[in-house]
Amino acid sequence: MSIIELSDISKYYKVNKKKFKALDNVNLKIEKGESVAVLGKSGAGKSTLMHIIGLLDRYDEGSYKLNGEEVSKLGDSELSKLRNEEIGFVLQDFSLIDQKTVLMNVMLPLYFNKKYPANHMKEKALDILESLGIKDQADKKASQLSGGQRQRVSIARALITEPSVILADEPTGALDSDTADEIMHLLTELNEKKGITVVVVTHDKRIAEYCKRKIYIADGKCVTE
Ligand SMILES: Nc1ncnc2c1ncn2[C@@H]1O[C@H](COP(=O)(O)OP(=O)(O)O)[C@@H](O)[C@H]1O
Ligand SMILES: [Mg+2]
Repeated sequence: MSIIELSDISKYYKVNKKKFKALDNVNLKIEKGESVAVLGKSGAGKSTLMHIIGLLDRYDEGSYKLNGEEVSKLGDSELSKLRNEEIGFVLQDFSLIDQKTVLMNVMLPLYFNKKYPANHMKEKALDILESLGIKDQADKKASQLSGGQRQRVSIARALITEPSVILADEPTGALDSDTADEIMHLLTELNEKKGITVVVVTHDKRIAEYCKRKIYIADGKCVTE
């Protein structure tokens, strides 16, 4: 069973009262433990696809099974629960709360996940920060860190719920190329050592080379290599 299975997925946006097809009959299977790069020009539909895979947005046609479960049947609260348990997001702009400490930012997803007892939260967050080489930054405010450090914090936050999938949308888009390489090394390591399925959206072919499989999107259509 594939961890992610999209069959004939289409998604429309309404623009000026007209329907615009942002995803056009996308078929895509991703197996557990794969690392996949999603390549395509700006406006191709990459983020739309990630939002659907990450259960942040609904689709209009087709079927999406996450771990064998048809997600269109789930209500909003079931979707949030599944998202919180299965998916870790890493975004281009890091999406950290600048005025909170690194530690608080990393612990945040656990407040929405009843699986973890409160007294273990801090210990767990510190362990993850240590494994990513930024434990010494735990008490700083997120705004005080460099771009590369901020992206590590956002990866730590993604990892804290032990997701089976990490979805990274242009994770290196705001970083210089050396720092971008460090972040891609880190994501590759999480994929290879922990078996986390990693899907990375990028428009940069060099970044895509870190992933074992490449998928191309153009005009909402998906071509797999
Ligand atoms: N919320 C929205 N409402 C209307 N159109 C949208 C919305 N989000 C994205 N689009 C359009 O859908 C297309 C795909 O967007 P997106 O998935 O963000 O592309 P990418 O991430 O590949 O740059 C673009 O033409 C974009 O303008
Ligand atoms: Mg995008």
